[in-house]
Amino acid sequence: MQSQYISQNKDRFLNELFEILRIPSISADKAFLGDVRKTAEFVRDKMIAAGAENVVLEETAGNPIVYGDKIFDPSLPTVLVYGHYDVQPSVPDELWTTPAFEPTVRDGKIYARGACDDKGQMYMHLKAFETMMQTNTLACNVKFMIEGEEEVGSTNLGIYVKSHHEKLKADVILISDTGMIANDIPSIDVGLRGLSYVEVEVTGPNRDLHSGVYGGAVANPINILCTMIASMHDENRHITIPGFYDDVNVISEADRKALNSAPFDLEHYKKDLEIEDVMGEKGYSTLERTGIRPTFEVNGIWGGYIGEGAKTVLPSKAYAKISMRLIPNQKSKAITKLFSDYFVSIAPKGVKVKVTPHHGGEAAITPTDSVAFKAASKAIETTYGKAPIPTFGGGSIPIVALFEKELGVKTVLMGFGLDSDAIHSPNEHYGLFNYYKGIETIPYFYKYFADMMK
Ligand code: BES
Ligand code: MN
Ligand code: MN
Repeated sequence: MQSQYISQNKDRFLNELFEILRIPSISADKAFLGDVRKTAEFVRDKMIAAGAENVVLEETAGNPIVYGDKIFDPSLPTVLVYGHYDVQPSVPDELWTTPAFEPTVRDGKIYARGACDDKGQMYMHLKAFETMMQTNTLACNVKFMIEGEEEVGSTNLGIYVKSHHEKLKADVILISDTGMIANDIPSIDVGLRGLSYVEVEVTGPNRDLHSGVYGGAVANPINILCTMIASMHDENRHITIPGFYDDVNVISEADRKALNSAPFDLEHYKKDLEIEDVMGEKGYSTLERTGIRPTFEVNGIWGGYIGEGAKTVLPSKAYAKISMRLIPNQKSKAITKLFSDYFVSIAPKGVKVKVTPHHGGEAAITPTDSVAFKAASKAIETTYGKAPIPTFGGGSIPIVALFEKELGVKTVLMGFGLDSDAIHSPNEHYGLFNYYKGIETIPYFYKYFADMMK
């Protein structure tokens, strides 16, 4: 009955996704504030149309949160669905084959910013809900909480959650905002890393100087910044910030073995990225480096003359944006302080250093022995024909740790994306297969979760 409803409404489900993908809801850039709100209103309207009640835009100091629910039998378990309608910036736009906000299907994939992260995956939940409502098969109570600031740290959602414990009460939090190994190797992400994100500014002389007249005699902030950043790793690609690893949980050999038994083809990985070799912390495999080890990565670096041709200038300032991925037990605020203190301490006298913390968040491990995980596993097995493998995806969704702390509710990360979907990159895409598979799988989760909670 459900599959019939889905196939009858296939085209509309896709057209609606296209509509939301056309609105550039970039949360990082204030210029898109109006579009961000339009997107929230779109989600609100579609939530109402799908049959949710109490649907509201919850105003925050930033972008609105779309809340809605369908509580029809208090004796049934309640699923809290979280997703985000904001997206990353689309730059560099010239690298997109078709424009980021003009969704296009090529080779069975929807190309658009947010196609996978997270509009496509979030919208599957609304369509799965509509399907269950229309076929009278909704097996659990539902609460939706769709936010517009995930890509900028979820600060306002954090505040909202802290003051709405009762309203958000649920038995499980269900999120589709992660990926799988491959369409024929289903998996469930069970570990999210934490994050410390900082911006640094290095100032040398009080003004740009002639690089011949002053060069060689005055600290060049770009040279210095590069030296400082290079010193953050030792020859084993271990991070040198004193105390950085102090709180890192030691993981057991058994857990490492389990993690490394996930299907992974290093040759294919290198070929895909067109690199001769991988590089990372000594003593750890690629899956460990991305899944269960902390990192220090420069996300952007700039300063001086970057226009056409050559300009001989010794710049006054240099900047970098840096992210550190954290693992359980490392605390984002503490790591930011460790970095900040160390970075300032290693700066030579010829420069001044300023560190500005951006957002952060804690790591989260989702249990594999919970009823919810078993229900998700069985749902995926039903529609994919194979039980999913637990994996550590490496990404961060900071609100997950906060949900657990504030609401005491665990999360299941039932994601349908693929690593190759190019999220945050040019030509982000999402398979039509994945979109419809998600819509088909979600109702099974509700059904099995209700059955298993009885
Ligand atoms: N959906 C991603 C997180 C993700 C991607 C988890 C792939 C696992 C696998 C999310 O939208 C995201 O991009 N999060 C940010 C953190 C945020 C604070 C900006 C991230 O991981 O960089
Ligand atoms: Mn996301
Ligand atoms: Mn993202």
